[in-house]
Amino acid sequence: MRKPLLAANWKMNQTVAESLSWLAEFDRDAADVLDNQEVEAVFCPPFTALYPLRQAIVAHKMDILLGAQDLFWQEAGAFTGEISPVMLAECGVSHVICGHSERRTLLQESSEMISKKCGAAVAAGLVPILCVGETLSIREGGLTQEWLEAQLFESLSFWDGKSEIVVAYEPIWAIGTGQAATAADAEAACAIIRDNLREKGGSYADQVRILYGGSVTPQNAAELLSGSDVDGALVGGASLKAAAFAAICRAAFRENC
Ligand code: 13P
Repeated sequence: MRKPLLAANWKMNQTVAESLSWLAEFDRDAADVLDNQEVEAVFCPPFTALYPLRQAIVAHKMDILLGAQDLFWQEAGAFTGEISPVMLAECGVSHVICGHSERRTLLQESSEMISKKCGAAVAAGLVPILCVGETLSIREGGLTQEWLEAQLFESLSFWDGKSEIVVAYEPIWAIGTGQAATAADAEAACAIIRDNLREKGGSYADQVRILYGGSVTPQNAAELLSGSDVDGALVGGASLKAAAFAAICRAAFRENC
């Protein structure tokens, strides 16, 4: 049984002050769901908010995990503007998003770079959330499976088949568009991903959590999470409102019970 994981990707949103008030509100709204340990919530603020949020989580003994939105693969050195896995671990980060499509397209991150980032995360004791997903033209051309397999093959070259990873299926056409995948399409893609993980991880692939991301809302979360290979969600826009993200966590909890 895989415990549902709900990840909030705030992208480049929320100041430290806004992040702290979001946390307090989310803790009030979702405490009942998180207390019973049936679902896990990880939120990924901008780097600047990580340390203050960690302090608040510890001070208030909250059952909330902290994630980063990116990292660099070196521990230290002359890499202006980059953040190392060790620095993230020091801030109490447990998860890190790697290879989000916005970074793949806007910042030209290659799958080779992403694999290095994931490998560095694992080496530092962090769990990478590896993002994959196709464009609309790839989907319409009937090439989704080939695309996902190629992205996984290249981005997973770091993986030994047994260290903990999370994979997020985020179709690019569904991100920020209000046009989520259907539950059937999300399940089909997540099943392709799991089959692919089996080739490298054997039966361990059954323990890997695979998330769906792309226009998830409190209204569509239960349906999107109903697929047997969909183990949670990576939520952008809707996660900026604490009450909406709490409602998505609650939907996952109900779906799992
Ligand atoms: P939206 O939920 O805003 O579509 O964003 C999804 C996403 O990119 C999460 O990483």
